[in-house]
Amino acid sequence: MSMYPVILSQTKFIHRDSLTFPIEERALQFGDGIYEVIRIYKGKYYLLDEHVDRLFRSTEAIKIKLLFTKKEFKNLLHELLKRNEMTEDGKLYMQVSRGSAPRDHVFPKDVDPNIYAYVQTQPRNLVTLKNGVSVITHRDIRWENCFIKSLNLLPNVMAKQEAKEQNCYEAILHRDGRVTECSSANVYLVKDGKIYTHPTTNNILHGCVRMAVERFVQELGIPLIEEAFTLEDINEADELFLTSSTSEVTPIVTVDGLAINNGEPGNITRQLQVAYEKDANIVENLIENYA
Ligand SMILES: Cc1ncc(COP(=O)(O)O)c(C=O)c1O
Repeated sequence: MSMYPVILSQTKFIHRDSLTFPIEERALQFGDGIYEVIRIYKGKYYLLDEHVDRLFRSTEAIKIKLLFTKKEFKNLLHELLKRNEMTEDGKLYMQVSRGSAPRDHVFPKDVDPNIYAYVQTQPRNLVTLKNGVSVITHRDIRWENCFIKSLNLLPNVMAKQEAKEQNCYEAILHRDGRVTECSSANVYLVKDGKIYTHPTTNNILHGCVRMAVERFVQELGIPLIEEAFTLEDINEADELFLTSSTSEVTPIVTVDGLAINNGEPGNITRQLQVAYEKDANIVENLIENYA
């Protein structure tokens, strides 16, 4: 992954090396802020409206007041791609913090939020999309406001590291045996032609790719049931898959070493991968390439 040189800082475009923050910055000291990651295909954002809507929901939830409208912000993000002459597959990372101020838990008065955004290349991971991934299960020890895309990611980082140490791609998180989501993705179980996933309560992030999946299943006539499944249900699952902006729709083929669907990506997962490619205007057809 390589980073493009021009970044957005507040509402200005500067070289990435010119970005400096004072030591007393609230994202650095408290994780007091939120972020977004947006997928880019061939120099175009995918699901931009969904991400910008979520950004505004997150900032509102933690009482950060943005100084621009959604439309103005989208224009800035488009301008960022233009200034970098970006035409590749990639992603945008952006974060908003409460601002720079002397360290004190209480909100500072009259301080503007700090915002930056940068873009980098990121090719699609065709190997994991084709073959699927292995995951572990892990207790969900996060707070009760996981619908906010908060910078506080320590439990997610610890869970993902645990997965990595077991040569796995992700950790499926559960609260008392009920599956919420993964450390950085939403997760779904397929049984008897129906898809099950945790409802969009405060306990999970409402993923933008999940919103797209909600559209795909309507077109495909596949029932999507917003009901948490359990760790025991995984033993009986026909298919499992996860979604996120960087992972798209990725099949899960083993959980804690147990093979799902004999270790092969399932048919419903494949249908959703095809729908995803169509929706994101991806020219290369995954399934045909795999045949
Ligand atoms: C905890 C968590 N859940 C779900 C997702 C998927 O969200 P999206 O589809 O918007 O990328 C992410 C993305 O990073 C995440 O961090």
